[in-house]
Amino acid sequence: MINIEKLKEILVVGAGTMGHSIAQVFSQARFQVDLVDLNQKKLNHALELIESNLKILAEFNKVDPNRIPNILSRIRVSTDLAQAAEDKMYVLEAVNEVPELKQKIFKEFAEYCSAETILASNTSSLDIFKLVKRIVNLDRVIAHHWFSPPHIIPSVEVIPGRRTSQETTDFVVALTKKIGKIPIVTKKFIPSYIVNKIQESISATMYELMARGVADAEMIDLAIKTTLGIRLPIVGVVQLHDFTGLDVVQNVQSEKGGSLPIVDSKVQNNELGVKTGKGFYEYGDLSEKKILNKRDRLYLQQLEFLEKKTKFDPI
Ligand SMILES: NC(=O)c1ccc[n+]([C@@H]2O[C@H](COP(=O)([O-])OP(=O)(O)OC[C@H]3O[C@@H](n4cnc5c(N)ncnc54)[C@H](O)[C@@H]3O)[C@@H](O)[C@H]2O)c1
Repeated sequence: MINIEKLKEILVVGAGTMGHSIAQVFSQARFQVDLVDLNQKKLNHALELIESNLKILAEFNKVDPNRIPNILSRIRVSTDLAQAAEDKMYVLEAVNEVPELKQKIFKEFAEYCSAETILASNTSSLDIFKLVKRIVNLDRVIAHHWFSPPHIIPSVEVIPGRRTSQETTDFVVALTKKIGKIPIVTKKFIPSYIVNKIQESISATMYELMARGVADAEMIDLAIKTTLGIRLPIVGVVQLHDFTGLDVVQNVQSEKGGSLPIVDSKVQNNELGVKTGKGFYEYGDLSEKKILNKRDRLYLQQLEFLEKKTKFDPI
């Protein structure tokens, strides 16, 4: 495995919505960053955005304002991919979501990077492994998928393809941790990965509700912000069902004429969630009362913040 401690320089290609902020995150973590785009105008704009992002982070004590000039100076912008790729052991492309363009960039990676360089893609929806399989050796290709805005969202998805080597995955997981992010690692590749896959179901349903005249945009957002918006940051979508009770989930499902084998087998084993001490999660010796108290305190803190700061109004 490439020694992560020896990695000092990285390359980001594409300085748009995602790329500029990803470059910033690496620079904040003290990496020397080459940021490449098509023209100087885009690069200048990216640097302006990075400076303004850093000032906002400083307002929230997430960055020392005295460090800002240093962070900026570690980002070298350029339009010369060949030169910027030289000696890099990790490169990430964040160019437009266009298959031919991704292939073009990977051809350039194949030409300019060493045979060991980790080739990462920030693609949200393309099967990067299929797209580049004839261009590079897939064992060092990985999807490293960031969320907007990268300088704020704490996690980054790490998606190995079927032929990505364990070494490559381990390296990208270690790198993600090193820059202070939480790696969300999938066991295998599916399009849209975890977060966008779930987001797609939500989006499809909200458009259906609007199209069928069930509710307008503001009512849908108010409904979500005042319910799921309070619960999900604390319990996620899976543990939420441990609180609902997996027998209840099973009943709802069978009323609809469906079944969920994962839930059925848990119910059969009396793993109903919090009320039996085990569901998708194990609750050890904690009593139901203690678990509910813990949850409620967290919900109340969350609610207090939201009521005070947003009143659930649109931005
Ligand atoms: N926008 C998001 O919220 C988001 C979130 C996660 C992932 N992504 C993914 O990140 C990637 C980039 O998205 P974005 O929103 O930052 O796009 P964007 O359009 O804001 O930026 C893309 C940048 O790539 C540059 N570019 C195009 N061709 C190039 C080339 N040959 N060499 C160098 N630079 C080139 C463009 O000039 C542009 O600045 C896409 O794959 C997208 O799916 C986007």
